[in-house]
Amino acid sequence: MGRAIEDRGIRCAGWWEPHLRCTREFLERGVPASKKVAVFGAGRLLDLNLKRLLERCEVVHLFDADPGCMRAWRAAAGKEFGKRVVPRIVDLTECLDEWSHGLARSARVGTLAEYLTSREAPIPSWSGEGFEGVISLNMLGQIPLYWRDRVLTGKSELSDVEAEALMRCMGRLQAAHAEGIAQLQPTWAAIITDTEYYFYDVDQPEWRVESAVFDEKTRDMLRLRPESRTPRSESWLWHVAPQFIESDVEGEIHRVEARFLTSFKR
Ligand SMILES: C[S@@+](CC[C@H](N)C(=O)[O-])C[C@H]1O[C@@H](n2cnc3c(N)ncnc32)[C@H](O)[C@@H]1O
Repeated sequence: MGRAIEDRGIRCAGWWEPHLRCTREFLERGVPASKKVAVFGAGRLLDLNLKRLLERCEVVHLFDADPGCMRAWRAAAGKEFGKRVVPRIVDLTECLDEWSHGLARSARVGTLAEYLTSREAPIPSWSGEGFEGVISLNMLGQIPLYWRDRVLTGKSELSDVEAEALMRCMGRLQAAHAEGIAQLQPTWAAIITDTEYYFYDVDQPEWRVESAVFDEKTRDMLRLRPESRTPRSESWLWHVAPQFIESDVEGEIHRVEARFLTSFKR
């Protein structure tokens, strides 16, 4: 999937650049001098300037599930790789492999809805590490989609009950990521996430709108509600899949919300 993002990023480079620039600039404006920082969903560092981050942060842990990221991390970190830049190839949810084991069987025997409903997302162990700052690069938006895609690979047509169970399950993954950050109690956290998906067809005046936040508690916890006031917040549109480049029948735009949160200490 990391490779797919990389390929799509190349095909859509001009369309993605405003989003990547907004993300980099949001971080550069807001990240304070810090000792130890975690970057969740570092990927190929398209939306983060590692050199700038290292000017302000002593040690940076880069997290991603995709081992293909290592080459980009090594190149960007130079002689700091393995010293001030610590590579961490892990599944941030710490449950997707285990959840995947029972998936095919439950779909086969007709118990997929029950299986999804019984999945409890654990609070990840990284929540016990002492990070002064946290950057979450669209992990809230992406984590549930990766799980959804695994589920749909096993069964492409879901019943209404299964679809509802899947959405709740996706919400629990999102909530566990948000709760993991809250339990870390960092001094600051920069959360960048999709909050809505817009699907369009250039021949049609209507848009289809889908929420990218599947859990009320997550919405509340990160104060993503439009009426909320946060110390610093920004929002922009990411033309993620322009029609006729990724698909001839529709295009896709994401609403991205970026927040600097500073009130985790209880
Ligand atoms: C969320 S976007 C961030 C884009 C990234 N910053 C870049 O510049 O390429 C996608 C990244 O999240 C990672 N990812 C998705 N689910 C993950 C998980 N459960 N644990 C760790 N990383 C995950 C993907 O491997 C991918 O690199």
